[in-house]
Amino acid sequence: MAATAVLIGAGDRGMIYAGFALAHPERLKVVAVAEPDPARRERAARLHGIPPERRYRDWAELLAEPRLADGCIVATQDRLHVEPCLAAFEAGYHVLLEKPMALSEPDCARVAEAARGSGRALSVCHVLRHTAFWKAAKAVVDRGDIGEPYSIFHAENVSYHHMAHSYVRGNWRDSASASPMILAKCCHDLDLIAWLAGRRPLRVASFGALSHFRPENAPPGATPRCTDGCRAECQYDAVDTYLRGRHMKLALRKAGSAPVRAAMGLLLRAPGLCRLVPGLGRYVDWPEWPTSTITTDLSEAGVMRALREGPYGRCVYACDNDQVDHQETIFDFEGGLTATLRMQGHSHLEGRTLRIDGSRGTLLGTFGGGGGLEVHRHRDGRRARYPVRSDAYGHAEGDRGMIERFTEILEGRTEASPADEALMSHRMAFAAHESRAGGRVVSL
Ligand SMILES: NC(=O)c1ccc[n+]([C@@H]2O[C@H](COP(=O)([O-])OP(=O)(O)OC[C@H]3O[C@@H](n4cnc5c(N)ncnc54)[C@H](O)[C@@H]3O)[C@@H](O)[C@H]2O)c1
Repeated sequence: MAATAVLIGAGDRGMIYAGFALAHPERLKVVAVAEPDPARRERAARLHGIPPERRYRDWAELLAEPRLADGCIVATQDRLHVEPCLAAFEAGYHVLLEKPMALSEPDCARVAEAARGSGRALSVCHVLRHTAFWKAAKAVVDRGDIGEPYSIFHAENVSYHHMAHSYVRGNWRDSASASPMILAKCCHDLDLIAWLAGRRPLRVASFGALSHFRPENAPPGATPRCTDGCRAECQYDAVDTYLRGRHMKLALRKAGSAPVRAAMGLLLRAPGLCRLVPGLGRYVDWPEWPTSTITTDLSEAGVMRALREGPYGRCVYACDNDQVDHQETIFDFEGGLTATLRMQGHSHLEGRTLRIDGSRGTLLGTFGGGGGLEVHRHRDGRRARYPVRSDAYGHAEGDRGMIERFTEILEGRTEASPADEALMSHRMAFAAHESRAGGRVVSL
């Protein structure tokens, strides 16, 4: 019989994890949903065949019921992770919790403590650990292929349009109501760095700023909304981004195989012509992320309404954002290992780059954009390539791996990683934030 789960928050992420139940109904079934947005709630209920009495407007209503399933997926926004998670443990669920665990260190510790006390599994969605690329990188280090690791360089290259969508116009633009960039975006990277290092971080220093997305950098002729007749020559044009999906098509073209490149080239160069080709017309506009996150009405009129009325049509130089757009963070680990994390929001392609230098070799990797992993051995100069290619945007494989692993936990086939592992990467983020804000080295 399939394992069962309830879904709290049927937004972008919640629907991705719930999607595993649609692809593998023999392994997972979503039996209840809590979501205040009626359109989202009904969409989830329809897709998963959830009866009316198991559709709730709020997580508290759902979790007030006696336990309805084996697991609980908590995919609400950052500020709403702690309370539903604690209530889910109280009710006896295993919990899949979106990152970040919480917005403060004491709250993260409460979540970890509740997991320990309940004897239930806590899976924090550090999805990248579940990709072939990062598993291979970890295996290289653990096998000793590069000897003793001394230096890690890890870059989180956020594409210019992802930066604008999420951290300038969107849900994570305000570090106080969401969480600071180093937690909101980089807790994945900190988790990977700590995992690869395999030892305790001791100290951290961090520098960074919001340099670009400020009113003084608006191009001449910019209007408060892109839909106000803006005449500026600008890569952040919201209509181009959300209705036409221009930046996603460009990214897929750069990273894709020859047929994908050809198709994307055609869509970009000749959208009018593409509308005439049966079947291709529906791809001229862009129904995928990020457009799918700004409205549930994906018709041209629906997207344009969202741009005229909602936050995503605003000029990126006239938003209420305060997130840094670049930040460098240096960690000193036990045993003399140092690690640098670079986050920057001006990248041509989305992805991570990795370099680990060790006593016997160097590991080089590019995650995202179809990149790969290779090891250079010092002794004989030989290079070994690993057959792991990340997909164009890097996320989907990890999302699948994450929910599959949670399903295995519900099936009783595996155990979750200790809650303290997730807690460590969050502690690193809070310490880095404190260092940047206070201009000092912080001990962990
Ligand atoms: N693991 C990753 O790689 C990754 C990637 C992106 C986002 N995230 C995280 O996932 C979380 C969700 O992000 P998202 O993009 O899906 O956001 P979203 O806004 O699309 O979805 C959140 C949903 O929660 C619902 N909600 C609000 N109040 C609720 C309540 N009281 N009870 C039940 N549901 C409620 C909202 O209506 C919304 O539909 C965030 O914390 C984000 O940081 C993780």
